[in-house]
Amino acid sequence: MRLSDRLSQISPSATLKITAAAKELAREGKRIINFAAGEPDFPTPSHIKEAAKKAIESDFTKYTPSSGTLELKEAICRKLQTENNLSFDVSQILVSCGAKHSLFNTILAIVNPDEEVLIPMPYWVSYPEMVKVARGCPKFIKTTRENNFKITKGDLKKAISRKTKLLILNSPCNPTGSLYEEGELADLVPLIIDNNIFVISDEIYEKIIYDGLKFSSIACLDKRVKDLTILVNGVSKTYSMTGWRIGYLAADKSIVKAATNLQSHSTSNPCSISQKAALAAIEGDQTFIKDVVKEFGRRRDYLLGALDKTILKPIKPEGAFYIFCDISKTNLDSVAFCKRLLNEAGVAAVPGAAFGMDNFVRISFACSFEDIKEGMKKIENWIDKLK
Ligand SMILES: Cc1ncc(COP(=O)(O)O)c(C=O)c1O
Repeated sequence: MRLSDRLSQISPSATLKITAAAKELAREGKRIINFAAGEPDFPTPSHIKEAAKKAIESDFTKYTPSSGTLELKEAICRKLQTENNLSFDVSQILVSCGAKHSLFNTILAIVNPDEEVLIPMPYWVSYPEMVKVARGCPKFIKTTRENNFKITKGDLKKAISRKTKLLILNSPCNPTGSLYEEGELADLVPLIIDNNIFVISDEIYEKIIYDGLKFSSIACLDKRVKDLTILVNGVSKTYSMTGWRIGYLAADKSIVKAATNLQSHSTSNPCSISQKAALAAIEGDQTFIKDVVKEFGRRRDYLLGALDKTILKPIKPEGAFYIFCDISKTNLDSVAFCKRLLNEAGVAAVPGAAFGMDNFVRISFACSFEDIKEGMKKIENWIDKLK
C-alpha cells in the first residue's frame, strides 16, 4: 500500500533509536551505560511534582485554551521580561507539548514548499526532518572546529539566496555545546534584517552554561530582529521535566496565531496537569538549577580529561550536556563506531551522522557520575582493543 509521500523522506530520530536499542539490550539483562539520552538524570523537583498532584486533586483535568492557560502564558511573559529583557504580550505566546512541538508548529506555520531553511551544521537531529515535513529545503551551513562550530556573517552571507525563508540558531548547541557570544550574534543581525529572514532561536539549553559564560538571545539585539525571531524554550532540560512535555514559543502575533491554529487541530492543548507543573517550575524556586549545573560541570570536566587521553578528540562544551568527539583516528564511521561500542563495550552513544558529521559521535553526560566513570572505563578498554 502506498503511504504518504510527505513522510517517505523522513528518517526516525537517531537519538531515540539508539536509546531504544540500548534499552532492549538492558532488558535482555546486559549492563548498558547510556551516553545517548538527552535527558537529565535528576528527579523533577518536588515543588513541581506537588503542583501537578494538586492539579489532579482539584480536577484541573479538562481541556485548556489551545495556546495554553493564561496564567502560564503570563508567567512566561514575566520570565522573558525579567531574565531576557524581552517584552512580549500573552497573545505572542504559544505553549506546546515540548519544545520539539513548538519547533514543529513554527516550521509548518512559516515554511512553504521549496523555500530554503538555513541550518548550521552540526545540527540537532530533528531540524532537517521537520523542514522536510513542511516540504521546505534544508540548506546546511558548514562550520569549522576553529570557529567552535559557529557560523560567521561570511558563512551566512554565502548561504542566503532568494529562496531563504528561515535560519535556525541553537545556542547552547546540541550536539557541540557551543555558545554564541553577543558580538557573534550581533554580526549576523544586518544580514537577517536586510534579507528579511525569520530566525528560530532554540534556547532550550539557556540555563545550562559553564565557566561563568553568559547566555545571549538574538531577539534582544535589535527590535527588527525581535520581530523576525521565533524564540523557543521549554521546561524539559532545565527542570528535568522531559516527560511532562511542555515547551513554548514567543513570536510575532501572526506567527503565533497560525501556529495555534495548527496546534488546535492536532493536540488541542498541552496537558493541563503539565501546564500547572510548568507554572510551578517557571515561577518557583530556581536555586536548584545552580546545583544541577555545578554537577553537570563536574561530569563534563571528568569526561573531557579522560577522553583527551584517548584517540578520541573531544570538543569542550560551553553549555548543554553533550561532548562531541572526533573519532577520525579510529578509522570507523560514526554508525559503525556506535554499533560496535554498544555491542562490544555496552556503551550507547549517538552517531555524528545524525547531526550531519560522520567523523564525530555525541556523548551525553546527563547520566550519573558513577555511570560516567564506568562508561569511560569501558570506552578506554574498548579503544585499547581497537588499536
Ligand atoms: C536543541 C534541542 N531543541 C529542542 C529539543 C526538544 O526539547 P523538548 O523535550 O522540550 O521537546 C531538544 C531535545 O533534545 C534539543 O536538544
